[in-house]
Amino acid sequence: MRKFKENKLVIATHNSGKAREISDLLKPYIEKFHTAAELDLPEPEETARTFTGNASIKAVAAAKGSGMPALADDSGLAVTALNGEPGIFSARWAPNKDFNIAMAEVNRRLGKSADRSAAFICALAIAWPDGHVETFEGRIDGNLIWPPRGEKGFGYDPIFIPEGETRTYAEITPEEKSATSHRARAFAKLVEQCLTQK
Ligand code: IMP
Repeated sequence: MRKFKENKLVIATHNSGKAREISDLLKPYIEKFHTAAELDLPEPEETARTFTGNASIKAVAAAKGSGMPALADDSGLAVTALNGEPGIFSARWAPNKDFNIAMAEVNRRLGKSADRSAAFICALAIAWPDGHVETFEGRIDGNLIWPPRGEKGFGYDPIFIPEGETRTYAEITPEEKSATSHRARAFAKLVEQCLTQK
C-alpha cells in the first residue's frame, strides 16, 4: 500500500457539499484541498462496472489532469434479489434527482420477493499523477422496507434499515448513521491504511 505523504489533495467531485464533507473528514491529515470543479477538470465518463472501477476512473483523471494526488468516491445501493441493482446506476434511477421514483422502482421490481436484503457500498480511490491507485471499500448490510419512513438523510435512506437497527437511515441522526455507514467505513479504511496524522 502506498502511503499518502503529500500535503495537498484534489477532491474529484463537482458537488460542493460532498467536497466540504470530505475535506472536513480529512483535515487532520492533509493541509490543502482543491476540487475538480475549482480546477475546471473535465468529468470523465464512468464506464466501469463496479463502484471501485468508477471511483478509480475519476481519481486517475483528476490526478493526471491536475498533476496532484486526487481522491474520488462512488457509492450506491445493491439489492440482493435484483442481482445488485441499482448498484452503480443508483443516481440514474432517480430522474431529476427524484428518489421517490427510484425507491418506488426498487419496490416494484422486488415485487413479492421474500429476500429484502440490500447493502449500501462506498468505494474510495486515491490516485497519484504517475497513475498509481489505491482503493478502499466500505459496506453496510441491511433490509429494505415499504413504504418509506423518515425525513432525514437522502437518496434511498427512507427504505433502508441497517443491520441491528429497527429504524431506517432516514429516521436516525447523521451522527448515528456515521457510526455504521458504508461511507464512514470506507473513510476509516483510507485513514488507517494510507494516511498519517499531521
Ligand atoms: P454518488 O456516489 O455520489 O454518485 O452517489 C450515488 C447514489 O447512491 C446517490 O445518488 C444515492 O442515490 C445513492 N447513495 C449513496 N450513498 C447513499 C446513502 O448513504 N444513502 C442513500 N442513498 C445513497
